[in-house]
Amino acid sequence: MGILAGKRALIVGVATDRSIAWGIAQAMHGQGAQLAFSYANETFRQRVEPLAASIGSTLLMPIDVQLDDQIDAAFALLGREWGQIDILVHAVAYAPREALAGGFTANTSREAFRIAHDVSSYSFTALARGAAGLMSERRGAMLTLSYLGAVRSIPSYNVMGLAKASLEANVRFLAADLGPRNIRVNAISAGPIKTLAASGVGGLRKMLAHVAQVAPLRRNVTTAEVGNAAAFLCSDMAAGITGEILYVDGGFSTVGMSLLDSDG
Ligand SMILES: NC(=O)c1ccc[n+]([C@@H]2O[C@H](COP(=O)([O-])OP(=O)(O)OC[C@H]3O[C@@H](n4cnc5c(N)ncnc54)[C@H](O)[C@@H]3O)[C@@H](O)[C@H]2O)c1
Repeated sequence: MGILAGKRALIVGVATDRSIAWGIAQAMHGQGAQLAFSYANETFRQRVEPLAASIGSTLLMPIDVQLDDQIDAAFALLGREWGQIDILVHAVAYAPREALAGGFTANTSREAFRIAHDVSSYSFTALARGAAGLMSERRGAMLTLSYLGAVRSIPSYNVMGLAKASLEANVRFLAADLGPRNIRVNAISAGPIKTLAASGVGGLRKMLAHVAQVAPLRRNVTTAEVGNAAAFLCSDMAAGITGEILYVDGGFSTVGMSLLDSDG
């Protein structure tokens, strides 16, 4: 029996079979969870539907996280279909492309700042409010996805780093607020992975090559590895963990200096 047997999870953020949310969904399904999926718009529905069907999930709903009506409707639907839920996975981020390349100072407009923070951080608060309303009889777990740019400057990551810093603070405030209701809130800070969203960040190829050279494990991580950590964090095996940012990055964030293998 899997560590998530009997649990029901809403997965927000599958776009393709390369999405981190899809790696999480596969791991959670493998551990016995029952899953519902959202899609950001009609174009993504056509991609998400067959993926969900491939693991036996038919509960799908539209959630554009910028639309409060859709968020309300999604949790109303989950309430009707399932009554209660155990797990919320939030794997959503967006910033206008022009803000994710070149210099931070020159390329961060007020509008790009607003959109990045709304879609990538506020959305977790909004979804957590809806999910918490369906977790009163459960030991709930919420999970979001962050990146090292929250705590270190990273070329081209720019305004998204600020949004991830806000998202990590969001994790701590939600954990404090929802802990007394027996709901845990954590984040995984994943190393770079080639996905649709990551391809919008300038210089992704160089980032991947750099991590593979200097991270202790000398390689990049996979969506399956992030998925397994997510399944653990959202299971009762992690019942004592909340407000935490868990790095799944091959150890990259722990290194102060690394001699390249070619240095001998
Ligand atoms: N890929 C990486 O290198 C990496 C590393 C660390 C953290 N992350 C984070 O992981 C999460 C998932 O990203 P990914 O890399 O799997 O890319 P992805 O493109 O597969 O997923 C991003 C998702 O965000 C959704 N989204 C964007 N705007 C939305 C909106 N308004 N409403 C609803 N959904 C919206 C997209 O539909 C998509 O499903 C993001 O928070 C990202 O910042 C990614």
